[in-house]
Amino acid sequence: MSKVQVMDHPLIQHKISYIRSEEVGSKEFREIVGEIASLMCYEATRDLKLEDVRIKTPICEMVGKQLSGKKLAVVPILRAGLGMVDGMLNMIPSAKVGHIGLYRDPETYEPVEYYCKLPSDCDEREVFVVDPMLATGGSCVAALQMLKDKGVKHMRFMCIIAAPEGVKRLQEAHPDVDIYIGALDDHLNEHKYIVPGLGDAGDRIFGTK
Ligand code: URA
Repeated sequence: MSKVQVMDHPLIQHKISYIRSEEVGSKEFREIVGEIASLMCYEATRDLKLEDVRIKTPICEMVGKQLSGKKLAVVPILRAGLGMVDGMLNMIPSAKVGHIGLYRDPETYEPVEYYCKLPSDCDEREVFVVDPMLATGGSCVAALQMLKDKGVKHMRFMCIIAAPEGVKRLQEAHPDVDIYIGALDDHLNEHKYIVPGLGDAGDRIFGTK
């Protein structure tokens, strides 16, 4: 079963509480989503492998550490996931960025892929799939399956706020994908919004309504 980690760093908790307020406007909301993504990325990359590297400083030679193992990629689920990309790249600037977009078929209610562009070597990379809100889990489960079908083998999923219903569904569908959560909320309402949540993350990031 996958690992579920709620990232309880005080800065992450503080910033999430701040952006929940309906009084926070788009500019500030977007900036703080980026900051939260950076902090979460920092925490979620604690287990990356290191190797020794010889360095000549201006003073002497030494053995330092550098990242080894798989290269990284970030894949936002469109549209709200875009709000987390820059924050992730602040921490892992050499990561490549793919994109995946899904819409719900109005007749079958099944998620349908409308856009997917991934790094050509995504099958060899550790891919961080990001979406600020894990609500029902439907689009996330479908996105991860689409990425697996395109050859992605190693994925982690990161969201800022999750509902228990979405976490359960995601764990059942993709037990191999570790889940990083900023805050685990209470439940979904009848419109499938997370309660207490922060409203529609995409609308708040992009100033649409
Ligand atoms: N997506 C959002 O942006 N917010 C929710 O509460 C649920 C899904």
